[in-house]
Amino acid sequence: MNVKYRKTVIAGNWKMNMLASEIKPFIDELKPLLPKTKTCETVLCVPAVNVSGMLKQGREAKISCGAQDVSEHDKGAYTGDVSAAMLADLGVKYCIVGHSERRAYYAESDVKVNLKAKKLLEQGITPIICVGESLEQREMDLTMAHINYQIRAALNGIDVSRIRKCVIAYEPIWAIGTGKTATAAQAQEVCCGIRGIIRDMYGARPARGISILYGGSMNAKNAAELLAQPDVDGGLIGGASLKPADFAAIVAATGEGNE
Ligand code: PGA
Repeated sequence: MNVKYRKTVIAGNWKMNMLASEIKPFIDELKPLLPKTKTCETVLCVPAVNVSGMLKQGREAKISCGAQDVSEHDKGAYTGDVSAAMLADLGVKYCIVGHSERRAYYAESDVKVNLKAKKLLEQGITPIICVGESLEQREMDLTMAHINYQIRAALNGIDVSRIRKCVIAYEPIWAIGTGKTATAAQAQEVCCGIRGIIRDMYGARPARGISILYGGSMNAKNAAELLAQPDVDGGLIGGASLKPADFAAIVAATGEGNE
């Protein structure tokens, strides 16, 4: 982290877990466990049907609501889709795009990820743009080549005034939901590499100011070491965000407002 230049963001990704009726009990349990004067941005990205509930329940605990996906279209005959305008209208602040599960199970291409990020930015919503390599790519030493491609494709046509609004999440696919976390050194190396790509595309100031998160089996035990890395500005947390005590411990591991 480098709190002088950029926001620390701890974002939970509930994926397809938790019922609407479970939000209030979750927040009631989480709230007293959170550090009292936390200055990191705390977000819970929930299924679209739970957005309203999270907006309502999260407010008092100062938890921002995020969505997990958005349509690449503005409106119209796209049965089942949710538009960026619909999310913004409710008050959603963040939305994950390009999560590896969506890329893998819903054939979400880099072109779609780019279109979705742009739709979100038009509505003032921060896209949390996910990138990450497979185990095969890592073993073939293709990690940075792949990440370089994904970042440039996702940000294609997004100008310098809007890059400030974006958050990048580095999530090695082999670490997601596997309990196999990247080492702090591996996370730092790639997050630093991503900052270098942003510098190359937009210049030094936007690169210094953009928040880059790590995701992939981050938990209450390993969070502090990962977050201590200079280019790791927060976390995107799946499994551990479903347990109030674990999620609160990760927020506390940002070291801010810890009493
Ligand atoms: P995990 O998921 O923390 O359960 O590995 C991270 C993610 O998919 O965002």
